[in-house]
Amino acid sequence: MLAVSEPLILGLETSCDDTGVALTRGFDLLADQTASSMDQHARFGGIVPEVASRAHLEALEPTLQAALDQTGHQLNDIEAVGVSAGPGLIGSLAVGLAAAKALALALEIPLYGINHVVAHALVDQLVHSPFDSPVLALIVSGGHTTLLIIDGAQITQLGATLDDAAGEAFDKIGRLLGLPYPGGPHIDRLARQGDPKAIHFPRALTRRQDLEKYPYDFSFSGLKTAAARWLEARQDQGEAINLRDFSASYAEAVADVLVSKTIKAAKDHRLDSVVIGGGFSANSQLRDKAKELVPAAGLDLHIPPLRFCTDNGAMVAAATAHAIAHGLAPSGLAIGADSAMAMTELVVR
Ligand code: KG4
Ligand code: ZN
Repeated sequence: MLAVSEPLILGLETSCDDTGVALTRGFDLLADQTASSMDQHARFGGIVPEVASRAHLEALEPTLQAALDQTGHQLNDIEAVGVSAGPGLIGSLAVGLAAAKALALALEIPLYGINHVVAHALVDQLVHSPFDSPVLALIVSGGHTTLLIIDGAQITQLGATLDDAAGEAFDKIGRLLGLPYPGGPHIDRLARQGDPKAIHFPRALTRRQDLEKYPYDFSFSGLKTAAARWLEARQDQGEAINLRDFSASYAEAVADVLVSKTIKAAKDHRLDSVVIGGGFSANSQLRDKAKELVPAAGLDLHIPPLRFCTDNGAMVAAATAHAIAHGLAPSGLAIGADSAMAMTELVVR
């Protein structure tokens, strides 16, 4: 348990469709509130940026009030504000950033513009303990698939997807199958009832010559194309498709590559601890495979609970606590939103 002298931190997350607001005292979570605009996007088959920005504008104040009410704190009590500054939808990020700047200015407190993708891994420190040694982080979301070493304030990117992110690969196949957006959770649900060995889909960048060139990178566009062709061929012949087996085999191919490259990265860099975060870390097939293989490789495994996997304010507050604990300077009020923020940058300079 952390001392009361730890700062009271407000975390704001508006990078996509969820408006997340959390309060922490250091790494102790006090309140976590989320409003989602997903219902307004589902009928379009994807997030509509303008709709998301407008929804953040409407949700921010009541969500902030709900978080304060949850703790009994007043705005005046907040000692630092962290906000997602990137990567994400530029208009959505701008709404959160404007609110955070206004609060920082009015309350005369430091502002931290946070990399929300890195925050997906740092949130684990609210659940387990603060990272006291370097960790290997696999961050998998709708837009990112990346392997990082997080060593205090130092972040090194080992690899990333060369094309589609894992979540995107699920959502695109979901669309092809006519599943509601986002397709990821639906494919997960079908896959849980299917045979993962029914169809063998390709595992990109895992052959020896590819591993030499791209040891820690991923590629899911070939898998997506192979799966689409497989479906088309069956549909052309009027063959019935077992959606459960198809989904299980597809999910298996994604989980297999993600987990095997994560273990390789941790072993190659002599790291003992693996953290998996991001919206796609809610995926059952990935969680099951990681729980089976990561400890078997002699590594500690941390996957935050489901509510911390998708976008949330708690992860931004946790990343801010991490930045403060490791002596990173605040951002200053002149920063802008950066939709393509580098993974090695935790706090915008
Ligand atoms: O991190 P996140 O909430 O938003 C981004 O910053 O991208 O991730 C959302 C992604 C979507 O692609 C969604 O389909 C996927 O995570 N996702 C899942 C599951 N839950 C969320 N994919 C597969 N299985 C799930 N259970
Ligand atoms: Zn995210």
